[in-house]
Amino acid sequence: MKTTTILLSAGAVIVLGACAAGSQMGAGFPSADQAVASSFQNMQPGWDKRLVQDDTQKACSVAREKPSKAEAERIEKMNQAMKVVYPASGKLVGDWKKGEAIAQNGYGLRVGDNDPKRQTGGNCYACHQIQMKELSYGTLGPSLHHFGKLRGNTPAIQKYAYDKIYNAQAFTACTNMPRFGHNGVLSPDQIADLVGLLMDPDSPVNQ
Ligand code: HEC
Repeated sequence: MKTTTILLSAGAVIVLGACAAGSQMGAGFPSADQAVASSFQNMQPGWDKRLVQDDTQKACSVAREKPSKAEAERIEKMNQAMKVVYPASGKLVGDWKKGEAIAQNGYGLRVGDNDPKRQTGGNCYACHQIQMKELSYGTLGPSLHHFGKLRGNTPAIQKYAYDKIYNAQAFTACTNMPRFGHNGVLSPDQIADLVGLLMDPDSPVNQ
């Protein structure tokens, strides 16, 4: 008997809860954006801006990551018009050994990653096969093994690799690849080191 009472009252609570949610929906039930915004509290300074979508992200949300051909062209053109900052040295091909460390490093921009002494990485292996020695990699992106060997180590391909890592949306609208330079995740020198990893004939990527 006691159990029945508890079950009944639990049922009543659920029904009441559903009614409350239903009435709130009519009167401005929190949107997904509001729910996300209120879920992240006590963030590092400036991180609240990361909860606000820019025009590219908004367009890709509307298109559910599958834009029409015309919309994809519009998004890519919009991103091509955005500024790309190159290394002060003017050299787009940096040190592949440093590039490998950056590709391996997933530190930065996660909740709790607030040690200013630790460098932010690119976490490239999370999505790409790069050098064959590394057995742990994701397959969301294409394999980058032999990138320079297959594409040719020309200034045009070096610039493509740099610009692609800087802002992948300028080439492939609504790609899953983050915009590492555009969003300030990696510095121009770090991006050049990654280009070194992909392009340098001495890099293990091209052996
Ligand atoms: C969250 C997954 C993800 C991460 C992390 C990621 N990429 Fe990508 N990348 C992709 C996807 C998906 C593609 C294919 C679609 C496209 O071109 O955008 C791609 C494409 C590329 C290409 C173009 C390949 C070609 O054949 O032209 C390069 C170069 C590249 N990534 C380099 C990198 C580097 C360097 C990093 C680390 C700084 C990185 N990516 C991190 C998902 C990712």
